[in-house]
Amino acid sequence: MKRRILVTAALPYANGPIHIGHMLEYAQTDIWARFQRARGHEVVFAWADDAHGTPIMLNAEKRGMTPEALIEHYGAEHRRDFTDFGISYDNFSSTHAESNRALVEEVWQELVDRGSVVTRTIEQLYDTEKGMFLPDRFIRGTCPKCGAEDQYGDSCEVCSATYEPTDLVDPRSVVSGSVPVMKKTEHFFVSLKPFQEGLEEWLRGGALQTEVANKLAEWFDEGLRDWDVTRDAPYFGFRIPGTKDKFFYVWLDAPIGYLASFKEVCDQRGLDFDAWVRPGSDAEMHHFIGKDIIYFHCLFWPAMLEGAGFKRPTRVQAHGFLTVNGTKMSKSRGTFIMARTWLDHLPPDYLRYYFAAKLGAGLADIDLNFDDFTSRVNSDLVGKLVNIASRAAGFIHKFGDGRLAAELPDEALYASFVEQHEAIAADFETCSYSSAIRRIMTLADRANQYVDEHKPWQMAKEPGREADVVAVCTQALNLFRVLMIWLQPVIPEISKRAGEFLNCELDDWQRIEHPLLNHAINKFSPLARRVEAKQVEALMEDARESLAPTASAQAKAPALDLAPEISIDDFLKVDLRVARITEAGHVEGADKLLRLVLDIGGETRQVFAGIRSAYDPKDLEGRLTVMVANLKPRKMRFGLSEGMVLAAAGDEGGPYLLSPDSDAKPGMRIK
Ligand code: MSP
Ligand code: ZN
Repeated sequence: MKRRILVTAALPYANGPIHIGHMLEYAQTDIWARFQRARGHEVVFAWADDAHGTPIMLNAEKRGMTPEALIEHYGAEHRRDFTDFGISYDNFSSTHAESNRALVEEVWQELVDRGSVVTRTIEQLYDTEKGMFLPDRFIRGTCPKCGAEDQYGDSCEVCSATYEPTDLVDPRSVVSGSVPVMKKTEHFFVSLKPFQEGLEEWLRGGALQTEVANKLAEWFDEGLRDWDVTRDAPYFGFRIPGTKDKFFYVWLDAPIGYLASFKEVCDQRGLDFDAWVRPGSDAEMHHFIGKDIIYFHCLFWPAMLEGAGFKRPTRVQAHGFLTVNGTKMSKSRGTFIMARTWLDHLPPDYLRYYFAAKLGAGLADIDLNFDDFTSRVNSDLVGKLVNIASRAAGFIHKFGDGRLAAELPDEALYASFVEQHEAIAADFETCSYSSAIRRIMTLADRANQYVDEHKPWQMAKEPGREADVVAVCTQALNLFRVLMIWLQPVIPEISKRAGEFLNCELDDWQRIEHPLLNHAINKFSPLARRVEAKQVEALMEDARESLAPTASAQAKAPALDLAPEISIDDFLKVDLRVARITEAGHVEGADKLLRLVLDIGGETRQVFAGIRSAYDPKDLEGRLTVMVANLKPRKMRFGLSEGMVLAAAGDEGGPYLLSPDSDAKPGMRIK
């Protein structure tokens, strides 16, 4: 039976480049989509960029661009990365597309009509300076549980406590540094309780991995709370119909983006959207996601679908996180690797193969260990797989005029390969890729063993045995072909070159049943090269370099907004001195300033510095810093300011007071 399958991967934020952690998911998804196509099913792989939300709005602002321009920039970059990684998507849209707006409004209207939306006045922290409500992540302060400073508004990285942003001691807006105030606002909520029964039924239907189903059951036990789907202006998103300044929360319109992207495909190809996505349809919908977004996909999303009259997902497949060399990806270690950086150094298929070799059906994290990676690619892909073809190809040309023999010398061996077909297919179907790869590589060993036993290179020296050589090599190449057909979803680029060599298509699993006989092949050219240690070193070096100057994952983004260039003479006009802070204190009536007394080697200066949001005066006394010593003194309301201290500030925290190493002496000039 021919299945109709909609496949999606989680939508990357249109806010920064794609990294190899994302690629773990996108490779997993793509392998599955390609596998289903190779089995003859009708597959649509439709997804998009996730374009909305506060971070995207603020990021665009910081770079002096519109959010539309920012998401456009990343949309194009993401598409290029995915195409070059062999991701065979049918459509990549944006959640900001009009197709999505239309569907979001339709879903919303359905939810309103069936009485699933409730209105409630809530109180939320508000940044009066910036004029916006603050999402939890944009408030930092002291943890109410353990007292750790500078923690996020929703959880503490030190003691892992979770809390409400209003529980923070001494909360600050990350956007402006000001002290947020509580402000009332009216929000729409989707009530989830009425969907619990439907969700429980869905959960029993086998749509989820066991671990995920257990998680869901826990959430039911805790009781489902209504879901706040409203964000106040300013916000980059879709305005809620009938309101002036309320927007849909990004997580409401993001998953609807799956359907909107799919609908675009339907419109292009004349497919019947409703026949795929409405209850009772036998078409399937499979979502691939990371374990961090299970809540959204297994609670909110199926509830919304049910509420709006769509069928629930056939399956949600969650995976674990990628680590590199045993730890979280890190910029300083050179293991926070962008997709593009990988492509600059190594073939995409090598990473796809490695991921497949490690990916099971569960939620375990996956480690990319570069020693393991190198030896696996070299021994499996180059040493075992490609080796079969490279050993056999020449003889077919030399003795067989480039044509395979008319029959197989060992049909039983070929049959023993074909016998594995359904087991391997079942592994792919259930996302147990590591198991499929094990089976395939065991057979690759068997194929090499066959060649070793028959030693065509020796036979070739014996007169009159040309036909035997061609027969053995025909056998070997047919075994190779079967392996390459199974591996096509995993390593499409290598498989494509193998197909050119064998002069046949390798993307149809049905063809395994019939060997290639009496068939002209093309000249062999190397299909995969060994990974060299220096390639891996260069990759990691590049990953380090490309990220060194920035604090966040926005490396190759539009350039920094620099002040106009100055000459060395301009620079030398500034007299910078090492200074010791001898006194620090609050300034009455100025909630951003601290009064500092600085010792610059026999002279003292009083300076008012706007660093109160980040420092406790008593922590500063005795500390070294750097000051501009020849700045014209300025009379302020609180007294004379005789210079400036240097501090770094940005949208992501700070200010950070600069300080020289502790053995620098006050008064030293910096030049
Ligand atoms: N925009 C949301 C998803 C909306 S879906 C309607 C989002 N975006 S994301 O860019 O943060 O992540 C996209 C996907 O990549 C998620 O499934 C996430 O789990 C996955 N990964 C991001 N970093 C990852 C690793 N280091 N390892 C494995 N997967 C990772 O969440
Ligand atoms: Zn804490």
